[in-house]
Amino acid sequence: MRVLVTGDRGYIGAVMVPFLRDAGHQVDGLDTGLYEGCDLLGGPDPIGNRKPRDMRDVTAAELEGYDAVVCLAALSNDPLGHLNRDATYSVNLDGTLKVAQAAKDAGIERFLFASSCSLYGAAGSEAVGEDADMYPVTPYGETKALAEKELSKLADDTFSPTYLRNATAYGASTRLRLDIVVNNLTAIAMTTGQVRLESDGTPWRPLVHIEDISRAFLTVLESPREVIHDQAFNVGRSEDVVQVRDIAEMVREAVPGSTLSIADGAGPDLRNYKVDFSKLNDTFPDLKLQWTVRSGVDELARAYERHGLTLEDFNSAQFVRLRRIQQLLGAGMVDDQLRRQTDEQFPGPGDARFEEKH
Ligand SMILES: NC(=O)c1ccc[n+]([C@@H]2O[C@H](COP(=O)([O-])OP(=O)(O)OC[C@H]3O[C@@H](n4cnc5c(N)ncnc54)[C@H](O)[C@@H]3O)[C@@H](O)[C@H]2O)c1
Repeated sequence: MRVLVTGDRGYIGAVMVPFLRDAGHQVDGLDTGLYEGCDLLGGPDPIGNRKPRDMRDVTAAELEGYDAVVCLAALSNDPLGHLNRDATYSVNLDGTLKVAQAAKDAGIERFLFASSCSLYGAAGSEAVGEDADMYPVTPYGETKALAEKELSKLADDTFSPTYLRNATAYGASTRLRLDIVVNNLTAIAMTTGQVRLESDGTPWRPLVHIEDISRAFLTVLESPREVIHDQAFNVGRSEDVVQVRDIAEMVREAVPGSTLSIADGAGPDLRNYKVDFSKLNDTFPDLKLQWTVRSGVDELARAYERHGLTLEDFNSAQFVRLRRIQQLLGAGMVDDQLRRQTDEQFPGPGDARFEEKH
């Protein structure tokens, strides 16, 4: 299949693109390049001559010839949504719909949308299935819920969107993110010797490794249309719906000499939900998600060690999406809607041009 992945230069894309290629698909990318230079272990394959592209400007003509679009591009977490609600709506909702409409107009039948379990929000204590009501508690979660609803209106005989509601991701990627819980706790343990919890550790979190996310996307890409047409799937493993304090304990065990601490005055986090993954398992019995959180923590620890991750890296803009966006905003390289102000690739976070501005 010829597949276009939007957001291919981000955390999940850096793992998913080679994964889909290894499965025999021809994969191209489209990305505005917010995180160029934010690299672990040398980063993903070089971008070559490809120009940065904002998905909010995509036309049907540029999508002609593809068999499927995988839409990963987004402002990818809650803190970014709080920084600028409008920009989050513009990219995550308007941008997604722009690409979807362009794909439909170009005659592309398959559209895989990277949705999120965070659209369940404050869902209570029962594990939620795909039919559950959505109670997103952040602009980010709202945009995922609204995008699914709008994409569903485009579904017809010629267009089959699928909504993959990923659990919170973890795992090593050459475009690492340290603003997600497992990656964060493992990094802070390795760079300070302390597994430090900023919330009281009681919230439930469903987790999934990024290679297993890629595996699920591949399965949907290759499944018969009637199985995936206008369907939502929670993507994760029921064994990996854990409390944040359990993750902290796993990290403490995996990082020799580390100790566990809870920040003063830490209360529970608003996001708290358990998720039911049985639809994914029942629909795709041959899909076997392979990673456990513990094996992911070990993988991360090895990757951090090889990279030589320091506390300075941990506190920098390199691996934290919000800090990187603030850096680009501060330097005037993007405007308040996060539109690029230059056609050149953005410099990495250690570039002298950022130093001058601060
Ligand atoms: N990582 C997780 O825990 C997680 C969980 C659930 C869902 N998701 C979803 O998966 C997708 C990928 O997440 P990620 O962790 O790789 O995020 P990421 O922030 O690492 O990558 C997002 C990519 O999208 C690109 N992008 C942003 N705005 C764009 C625009 N206007 N036009 C073109 N490209 C643009 C960025 O440059 C970046 O390369 C997102 O949609 C995210 O919401 C992620």
